[in-house]
Amino acid sequence: MKYHILTWGCQMNEHDSEVLSGMLEEMNYTRTEKLNEADIIILNTCCVRENAEIKVFGRIGQLKHLKHKNPNLIIAVCGCMTQQKGVAEKIAKNFPYVDLVFGTYNLDNFPELLQKAVQSKTTFIEVLEKEEKIIENLPVSRADNLKAWVTIIYGCNNFCSYCIVPYVRGRERSRLPKEIIKEVERLAEKGYKEITLLGQNVNSYGKDLKTEIDFSGLLKELNKINGIERIRFMTSHPKDFSDSLIFTIKECKKICEHIHLPVQAGSNKVLKMMNRHYTKERYIELVEKIRSEIPECSITTDIIVGFPGETEEDFQETLDLVEKVEFDSAFTFVYSKRTGTPAATMPCQVDERIKKNRLERLMDLQNRISKQKNQLLKGKTVEVLVEGYDKSKKGKLFGRTRTNKLVHFDGSKELIGRLVNVKITNPKTWTLDGVINQD
Ligand code: 5AD
Ligand code: SF4
Repeated sequence: MKYHILTWGCQMNEHDSEVLSGMLEEMNYTRTEKLNEADIIILNTCCVRENAEIKVFGRIGQLKHLKHKNPNLIIAVCGCMTQQKGVAEKIAKNFPYVDLVFGTYNLDNFPELLQKAVQSKTTFIEVLEKEEKIIENLPVSRADNLKAWVTIIYGCNNFCSYCIVPYVRGRERSRLPKEIIKEVERLAEKGYKEITLLGQNVNSYGKDLKTEIDFSGLLKELNKINGIERIRFMTSHPKDFSDSLIFTIKECKKICEHIHLPVQAGSNKVLKMMNRHYTKERYIELVEKIRSEIPECSITTDIIVGFPGETEEDFQETLDLVEKVEFDSAFTFVYSKRTGTPAATMPCQVDERIKKNRLERLMDLQNRISKQKNQLLKGKTVEVLVEGYDKSKKGKLFGRTRTNKLVHFDGSKELIGRLVNVKITNPKTWTLDGVINQD
């Protein structure tokens, strides 16, 4: 029996798919890359922006012919989209050949739900309304054998006014430090070299626990684990980024010098409407503090254009901030109305054409800055964790710098999994070319 999982959205979702894979493999399913070979297809969905949702519905529609060819095929839909009001019922109505719909709070129940779905003649739906307690020790089948995602906190308490996440992922729940440490120790034993700690807001880690530990404290513990060479984390909310965290990153050798710090907008009026709890000035101050303590640190961000009420002047302030901060790179988004969030009903929604135009101008600016920043690395030697062999680039190796920049270089496959020094010869906008330093 074979399975195939389609995943949309963030690393959190990617990691949930790794857990689903783990459970399926325990049930003796094996992974297949080919949809038409699969006995079960799972669609792990995202609803953070409307276009992700449109893609999912389109994809479910495309699966109809496979079900027609193989009536025993099981089709399941899970993830953030299913957690929204009415979506599960809409799927069952419009795509009755879907066997199972389940939400984000009952992933651990998947084997049981699958059994119920097989027995049910109609679409079996189980979407819980509220988060449950964290279930540990679920099987995980990871997509990579060098780098691993480790969730440290589930959910979000921030309620940024545009964002659907708090409604579909629930309130913040931190995993116990001992569970996280145990998981990372096991990963090290298996030969993993890099971990990325995941959470919608990792800086809130521990606030909901009885144990006296915060995110810095957790990082310090993980930094002690032999075998792990690199520690990354995402995402950080600027309002919760403490001085102690800056010093922890500076002190702990394994913590990589890269911070993903979504700013979202550069106008204080828009930031307030977004419910972000910081000003442009405070954000810039934070970046300056980070750079004064960790000069080599790369800083990346997320930016939304066309939030309701955003005027040309407000947008200009975003451009000014981007110019001033000089992000290494940025994920840029057009504001997407999410039903149920406060921003969806705010007046002065911005015209789609204006949004697109702002996005293009922002991307042009950021691309110019990314290229300039990468140019500074020309001739420099940087540490790269060799991750793999890129067939499309005529046998080149690839890996990432500590600052999370992708580097291509010639070398033998034996180097995969090792840290090597690479001299950057040709920096580009999104990637760097280099040669292994022989000295
Ligand atoms: N519209 C556009 N972008 C959004 N994001 C979250 N919600 C929305 C929305 N409604 C972006 C934010 C966040 C990233 C993961 O997705 O920039 O940081
Ligand atoms: Fe959404 Fe804001 Fe929470 Fe991030 S911090 S998940 S943008 S509500």
